[in-house]
Amino acid sequence: MPLIGTASAWRSAARGYLSASVPPEDISWGSETTQRGLFDRPADPVPTQDITVPRRFLQLADTVVWHSDATRFARLYSLLWRLRRSKGLLQDRADPALAKLLTMEKNVRRCQHKMKAFVRFREVGTPTDPRRSFAAWFEPTHFTVEPTADFFRRRFADMNWRIYTPDVSAFYQDGQLWFEEGQKAPELPEDASEALWVTYFRNIFNPARLKVAAMQSEMPKKYWKNMPEAAEIRDLIESAPARARAMAIAAPTQPAMRSAKLRAQAEQHVSAWSTTSNVPETGLRGCTRCPLHRHATQVVPGEGPAGAMLMVVGEQPGDQEDLQGRPFVGPAGQLLDATLQAAGLDRNELYLTNAVKHFKYAANGRKRLHQRPNANEISQCRWWLEEEIKRNNPRLIVALGATAASALTGNGSGIGQRRGKLEAGLGGKPVMISLHPAGILRTSDDELRKTANLHLRQDLETARELVSEPDPETPRIGLQRIDSAQGETPNLPRSTCSSN
Ligand code: URA
Repeated sequence: MPLIGTASAWRSAARGYLSASVPPEDISWGSETTQRGLFDRPADPVPTQDITVPRRFLQLADTVVWHSDATRFARLYSLLWRLRRSKGLLQDRADPALAKLLTMEKNVRRCQHKMKAFVRFREVGTPTDPRRSFAAWFEPTHFTVEPTADFFRRRFADMNWRIYTPDVSAFYQDGQLWFEEGQKAPELPEDASEALWVTYFRNIFNPARLKVAAMQSEMPKKYWKNMPEAAEIRDLIESAPARARAMAIAAPTQPAMRSAKLRAQAEQHVSAWSTTSNVPETGLRGCTRCPLHRHATQVVPGEGPAGAMLMVVGEQPGDQEDLQGRPFVGPAGQLLDATLQAAGLDRNELYLTNAVKHFKYAANGRKRLHQRPNANEISQCRWWLEEEIKRNNPRLIVALGATAASALTGNGSGIGQRRGKLEAGLGGKPVMISLHPAGILRTSDDELRKTANLHLRQDLETARELVSEPDPETPRIGLQRIDSAQGETPNLPRSTCSSN
């Protein structure tokens, strides 16, 4: 059987010649124009002695023997011969003989890969057969049926199948694999799986990413005639530009609420640098002072009655706030509302805002994960915070968490020791440092979480008492430590807010 068992036949012939020290020029591996020379006659009997060959050479030879170039055997033997004297030869990529063999190895591997990807079986058995049977016609560039057959045996172990090619055909029946000579293309019936291939191909085809040259290199034209889906290729390529244009024109797949807000924001856009303090609201909506505006849905301004005596400042809007355009409406907002109520405060009577007015996040699939604003973002946004303080002139500001504390006091150190106390803030206003509700929500230890929540409530109660003082200038709103600050706050997670 010509061409079958080539790898082991070549190995044993080469081993024999080498151990008998037969130089390459004395060996005829057969006609240089046919693939059959090696097997036309058995290798000459030669004395065998122990020879060692680098493992990498064996790998190379085991692949290159399947190349369609008739000089492959002679080339391999020549390299093997030189390896006896030059052990490092396989590392010398500049050696032209080695380089040629490495290219041949790559070509065979590529051909095996194509065979695995492009063989299309058609069902040939009858419904009463105990095992389903399939057949395929394939025209590989190299002699890759034999070395690739094991892949199909593992893949389709529970079926009977045959792959016909012009040189060798592989048969797998009832668990036995064997090879026979090649043959002409057989008549194979069309079957239902063809429609599936076509549908699959149409669905994975992305017109916006079409690169015809790359596609043809991946799926060379010579394979098309045996692939049902290839009939679609011409149409898909021709219609790609129009389909890509249609995709570009189609509406973005953002949630309706988000795109409506974005449109409104764009319509209202006013450069921050053309803003005067008379129109802070409009200016804020078009703020581009820092890069956060690029990805947020919209700016989230503070809210509350003009002239509110108490101002509460958080870190930055979370996911929900970004979508709804209002501060503290997500999970952290719900905890804040409950704690305000427990502290005897009415959310509608205070001014609620954030140190940073745009949501900063990292996209993770469909989720938007909260990111802490950096010093530059906080400092750029402080301009707006100052505006809010000037306009409202509150008697007291509560800073929720480290970001707000830093924005309001300029002191970026941790708040563990600072909470429950008053510090001097922007515009000379007293700032009560407290905890952020999102940090409390993220505290997994039940006891610590309860204590933290209690501290927030106590701080808010203190704030309520302070702003209810009849005379704003009373010493209780001074900057000294407030004696009622109860205990030290447990260590909460450093970041003050999550995707809240
Ligand atoms: N966290 C904040 O700091 N502010 C919000 O508005 C919501 C969550």
